Amino acid sequence: KTVNWSAEQTGKSGYDHFMLKEINEQPTSLRQCLSGRVDELTGEIAVEELDDLDTPSAVQFVACGTSYHASLYAAALLRDGGVPATAYLASEYATANPPIPEDTLVVGITQSGETADTMSALRDAKSRGAETLALTNVVGSTAARECDHVLYIRAGPEIGVAATKTFSSQLIGANLLVEKLLSETDTHRELITALRDLPTDVQTILDESNAEEIVEQFLDSTAFFFIGRGLHFPVSLEGALKFKEITYEHAEGFAAGELKHGPLALVTANTPVFAVVTGNDESAQKTIGNIKEVEARDAPVVVVTDGESDAERYADAVLEIPETNERMAPLLANIQLQLVAYHMANRLNRSIDKPRNLAKSVTVE
Ligand code: G6P
Repeated sequence: KTVNWSAEQTGKSGYDHFMLKEINEQPTSLRQCLSGRVDELTGEIAVEELDDLDTPSAVQFVACGTSYHASLYAAALLRDGGVPATAYLASEYATANPPIPEDTLVVGITQSGETADTMSALRDAKSRGAETLALTNVVGSTAARECDHVLYIRAGPEIGVAATKTFSSQLIGANLLVEKLLSETDTHRELITALRDLPTDVQTILDESNAEEIVEQFLDSTAFFFIGRGLHFPVSLEGALKFKEITYEHAEGFAAGELKHGPLALVTANTPVFAVVTGNDESAQKTIGNIKEVEARDAPVVVVTDGESDAERYADAVLEIPETNERMAPLLANIQLQLVAYHMANRLNRSIDKPRNLAKSVTVE
C-alpha cells in the first residue's frame, strides 16, 4: 500500500501555519476516524482491522511524547473496564523490563509509525512473546508492517511538528480498541452519542474559543502550569508539552493532587495555572480544592470546563467546552489547550510549525 494524500491536503489552505490548519481540521479528521466504524442506530462499534484480535489478559502501551499521553489515557480506560493496563515511555521500556504475562498485548501508539524508541520497545516485547498492535496514522509505516495488528487513526497528513489532530484521533482510536476489548460497558450508549456529537462539539470550540484573548494577559508570565486529575491528567501533560514545544516558555503539567507535594513552591502571581475540570463529581470537587490552593498564592487561574461545577467562581478566565461524556471531555479540553499554545506562540512570534531543536519523527534512540 502507498500513502494516498493529495496535494491539497498537504498545503496550508490559507492558514498562517500548518498547526492552525490541523487544529481546525479536527472535526473532519475525527469524522474520518469514526467513519464506518460506529453504527449510531445499533450502537455497535465494528473495527474490521481488529476482527482477529483476542481479548488479552493484560495490555502494555509503549509510546513517546504526545503519543505517550494518549497511552496514559488509553491505559486508564482499560483499567476502568477491569483489564490490567500500563503505559510505558518507550525509551524506558527496556530498562523497566516489565514481566509479560501470557496473552499480553503490547500496543505501540505512534503517529508516524517510525519513532525509534517505540519501535525498539515493540520489537523487545515481540521477542519476549507478546502480541503487538500499532495504533498509527501512517499506512505502511514500520510499526504498521512489523506489528501483528494495526489500527489506523486516519487523521490525514500532519505537517506541523507539534502533534494536534493526530492526538485527538489517537484518543478515538483508544476508545475503539477499548470497546473492542471490553464487553459492552454500561456507558456504551452514552459513548456512542458522544462520538456522534464529537465533530460538532469540536467545531463549537473552534468557532467560539477565547484562547487568543486569554493569552494576551500572560505575555510576561514566567512559567505556565497545567493541572487535571483522572483522564484530565494526561491532558494536563499534553497541554504543557504543546505549550513548551512551540512557545519555548517554561510549562509543566501536574496531576492536580500532586501540586501540594512540591510544585506549589513554584506558584506565584506570575505563573498562570490552567486547570481542567469537567462534571461535578468528587474528582471535580477535589480539583476545585487544588484551584483554591493556587488562587491563595495569587496565581492567575484559567479553568477549562463544561460549566457543570462551580469551578468558574475561582477562575480569572474560562475556556468553555460543550458538555459531553467523560471520555470525550479530555479530548475537547485539549483542543482549547492546543489553541492556547498556538496563540501564545504566534503572539511571541515563534517558529510554530518547526520549533527549534525538534523533529516531527525521531528515528534515533
Ligand atoms: C517527536 C514529535 C512529537 C511526537 C513524538 C512521538 O518527538 O516531535 O510530537 O509526539 O515524536 O511521535 P510518534 O510519531 O511516535 O507519535
